[in-house]
This record gives sequence, C-alpha cells and structure tokens, in this order.
Amino acid sequence: RTFLQVIGRVTLITIVGSGGLFYYVAQKDRTPGEQLPHDPTKKTLVVLGSGWGATSLLQKLDTTDYNVVVISPRNYFLFTPLLPSVAVGTLSPHSIIQPTRYITRHKDRTVSVIEAAATDVDPIAQTVTFADESEIQGLISSTTLKYDYLVYAVGAETQTFNIPGVKEHACFMKELEDAEKTHTRFLDCLESAAFPGQSEEEKNRLLHMVVVGGGPTGIELSGEIHDYLEEDLRSWYPELSNNIKISLVEALPSVLPMFSKKLIDYTESTFKEANIDILTKTMVKEIKEKSIVVQGPDGVKREVPCGMVVWAAGNTLRKVTKDLIAKLPEHQTNRRGIAVDDHLRMAGTNGTVFALGDCTATSYAPTAQVAAQQGSYLARVFKQIAKRDALVYELQALENAGSLDEEKQKQKADLTKQVEKSDKVKPFKYSHQGSLAYIGSEKAIADLPFSVGNLAVGGVATYLFWRSAYLSRLFSLRNRTLVATDWVKVKLFGRDVSRE
Ligand code: FAD
Ligand code: NAI
Repeated sequence: RTFLQVIGRVTLITIVGSGGLFYYVAQKDRTPGEQLPHDPTKKTLVVLGSGWGATSLLQKLDTTDYNVVVISPRNYFLFTPLLPSVAVGTLSPHSIIQPTRYITRHKDRTVSVIEAAATDVDPIAQTVTFADESEIQGLISSTTLKYDYLVYAVGAETQTFNIPGVKEHACFMKELEDAEKTHTRFLDCLESAAFPGQSEEEKNRLLHMVVVGGGPTGIELSGEIHDYLEEDLRSWYPELSNNIKISLVEALPSVLPMFSKKLIDYTESTFKEANIDILTKTMVKEIKEKSIVVQGPDGVKREVPCGMVVWAAGNTLRKVTKDLIAKLPEHQTNRRGIAVDDHLRMAGTNGTVFALGDCTATSYAPTAQVAAQQGSYLARVFKQIAKRDALVYELQALENAGSLDEEKQKQKADLTKQVEKSDKVKPFKYSHQGSLAYIGSEKAIADLPFSVGNLAVGGVATYLFWRSAYLSRLFSLRNRTLVATDWVKVKLFGRDVSRE
C-alpha cells in the first residue's frame, strides 16, 4: 500500500509540475517585455518575407545590433509541410501558422513588422518600395524605405507554365488560402454530387479529384484526400463513396524523383492499394471548367471529366524577383533565380543584399530545410558584421584622434588585426537531415542520410517518425499544442464535413 501511495504521489507531483511548467512557458510567451527603441546610430536591416528563411533568421538574429524592419504580405509564418493536412480538415488553418509578431515582440530591440508586398527593389539606391495590397487600406498604402542591408527571402510562386485554364479553374497548394479553398471546393463537389437526381455520370465527374504534379506536394495531398475519403466521407456520404476517384498526373516517368527508387516503388504500390491512379508520362495541356486535357505517353490528347483539379507543378520566380534580377544584367544571368555567392550575398550588390530560400538559384533543392539553415546562418553573419562595424568605428575614432602614442599604436594594430579576422566570414554549408513525405494510409517514406550510407524506409513506423519530426520542428509550444490537439480531435471525432 505504501509503495502504491508513493507511486501515486510521484505521479501527481509530475502531472502538477509539468502542468505548472507548461502554464508558465505559455504565459511567458503571451507577455513579451519592454523593448529597446530603434537607434538612429544603428544600420537598417530590412527583411523581405516571413516564410522559412526570414523566420529562421528572425529567431536567431541579435536585434540589438540593427534597426530591423520586416516586410511581408502575410503577417505570419506558415508551416508548409503540414499544409496538405489543412486541405482535408485534419488540421485547423490556425494550428500551422505563427504570427510574426509572436517572434519579433520577444526580441531585445523593437522590430517593425509591416504587412505589405515589396513591389520594387533598387539595389543601387538601396531602397525598397512596398505596398499594402490587402482589402482595407489607410490613406498611405505605398512607400519607399532605404536600407543598409537587405535580406531577400520572398520565396517563389506556383509554376503554371501559362497552361490555359490553370489560373482560372485549378486550386493551388502553396498558401493557407489555397488549402482552405481546396477544402471548400472538395466539399462543394460532394454536396453537388449529392443533389437529388444527379446522374451517375455527373456524380463520377464531380467526384473525380485530379492532382497535377508527382512531386512531394502532389503526393502528400493525394494521400491526405485518400485518408479523408476512407476515414470520414465513407461514413457521411455512403451513397457517394464509390464514385470518388483520385488521379495523380505526372509528366515525368516516375513520381518523387528526389527519393530513392525503393521508396518510389513503395509509394506507387501504396497508391495502387489505395486506389489512387498514378498517370506518369502524362502532361496536362489544358484545364477546363469541368474537365482536364492530358497528353499521355502515346502522344494522344484526351479530355477527362473532373470536379476539382489541384495544381502542384512546382515553383517559379515572383515578378518582383524577376524585376530585381533584370536590374543587374551583368551579374544576374541565371533565369532560375537570384545568383548568390557562398555567403548568400547577391551578386552585383556589393554585400548589401543577401538572398536565400526558394528565390535563389543554388545547387540546393528549394526546401524549407535549406531556407531555414540559410536563415540561421545569416543571423550569425549579421552578428559578425555588427562586430566588425563596431571595430571599424573604434579604429576610425582612434585614427581621427591625431598622433598616437606607443600604447595607442599597439591598440590600433590590435584593432586592425581583429577587423581582418572578422572579415573572414565562414561560407554557408548545408547539412542535409533527410527527406520525409506522408503518402496516406498512415504511411510515410523517409530517406535518411547516415555516415555509413542512406537509410530508405517507409511504412507506419515512419509515419509516426514523420509526425514527431514535424511536431518538434514547429516553431512554438503554442503550435505544437494546437497540432497535437487537432490530431487527437480527428482520431476521436473525425474530420469536419461542413462547408464554411
Ligand atoms: P517561403 O517560406 O515561401 O516564404 C516567402 C515569404 O515571402 C512569405 O512570407 C511570403 O508571404 C513573402 N512574400 C511574398 N511576396 C513578397 C513580396 N513581394 N514582398 C515581401 N514578401 C513577400 N520543404 C521541406 O523541406 N520539407 C517539407 O516537408 C516541405 N513541405 C512542403 C509542403 C508544401 C505544400 C509546400 C508548398 C512546400 C513544402 N516545402 C517543404 C518547401 C518549403 O515550403 C519551401 O522550400 C520554403 O517555404 C522556402 O522558404 P522561403 O523562405 O524561401 O519561402
Ligand atoms: P516539384 O517541382 O517537386 O514537382 C512538380 C512536378 O510537377 C514535377 O515532377 C513535374 O514534372 C510535374 N509537372 C509539371 N508540369 C506538369 C504538367 N503540365 N503535367 C503534369 N505534370 C507536370 O514541386 P512540389 O512538389 O510543389 O515541390 C516543390 C519543392 O518543395 C521541392 O523542392 C520539394 O522537394 C519541396 N517539398 C518537399 C516536401 C517534403 O520534403 N515532404 C513536401 C512538399 C514540397
């Protein structure tokens, strides 16, 4: 009995203790303290974007060294790896976003956060022009700001290849609104198919969901739609569940070219079991209101009726990035993106513009992993630049003081040495942590690099690893709690099928 009492007490103390700690951390997050104001003697560091690259920089940046201004059309960070889960209602949209102010308000010096899109960057005059493009605007909605340093992290947009009908009729899977729109449209197709008197042919059309692009975005989304169908829609729309069909169209000979062959085969067989049709070597040529035109390996064009198309065919540069590249024709010749050196300095800008993430043309894949590591790297670079600037300032003050005695001469030599040392900034080095993707049916695939070789695994255990990996990578306790709670809610009550 005594033993049980001890166990009971220890358990109780542990529960109360962790509850108290959780409450303390959450409250600390909610109540940011006083911040130093902007300092006119400090240099202005403008950060464009609030995605993976910019947010990772802001988290690590020592803001006492600069007057930092963040400009982005969305005032939050979006955790893109879990976006497909929002498209089927597994996760609530707010669970995977984090307001940028939740980070900047905890910094030592005030960081200005401006919800606006950069419309023009002048790398010679060192200015950025930005505009409030939201629905509601004040009397001033566009202005220009001068920067000493610019971090350019505006990401990319979805590539449409100017294929007719894509912009008009397809949903995308890039921004939060895209996932919400996909969810709504999916349910709209279901309800229209459930309308009394609908013919079998029309039901089949409305419930044919086509995903274009066999990259990780298209694969993960197809897997999530399949789960939605199996775990929820079969119960709530039993009369329609056999009409639902998912097709994945990919122009290349196989899906997921960045994964190892074993995992590609595993994904294809999992999709086959799940009745998801994979059409490889098939190019989408046009999207119409009620159909999609594809060209298969035989070269013949076919029109396939469908209710919804989600376009996940890769990335292209934003207009503002193309314009910036065009301003430096001698140095910027890569049409894939901004050319940077191995310190992420944009070629032709004399070290005043740093670019990272999906808007750059490097040897790395356009992934969150790369952008996040580049952001952390730049935070270290800016610390070193600030240190160097302070040393140069001290050196100049010494030189301006006139003739130097022996001690001052020694001090000057010492400072010069320190400046030379701080000039040597280590280049960016990417450390690949592996590739992970969810493929539906509670299975995931992982290509993990180890010193002895690559480990390629797939299945239910990998799915649990996928979940825990992304849960731990979410930037805040708040998001981790929200995502974990959503997962529990779905396990207990299923996904919602109401159309908002
Ligand atoms: P982003 O994160 O896209 O951020 C760009 C920022 O710039 C945004 O805040 C945007 O609002 C802002 N912006 C846009 N226009 C302007 C403008 N004119 N002025 C100022 N700011 C602007 N990668 C992985 O490694 N693992 C994954 O599991 C993974 N899953 C993904 C799932 C999906 C559905 C998608 C779409 C992508 C996924 N990626 C994943 C890729 C990853 O999201 C990108 O590589 C990453 O977001 C790139 O970071 P970034 O900072 O360059 O751009
Ligand atoms: P992607 O570029 O990887 O794949 C797009 C696919 O669409 C390509 O395979 C292309 O051949 C195909 N395509 C293009 N036009 C087509 C057409 N007209 N008809 C048929 N198919 C067509 O794009 P995705 O999946 O959006 O990924 C973008 C980046 O984000 C990649 O670097 C990827 O690695 C990363 N990402 C990583 C994830 C992960 O690690 N789990 C998840 C999602 C994205």
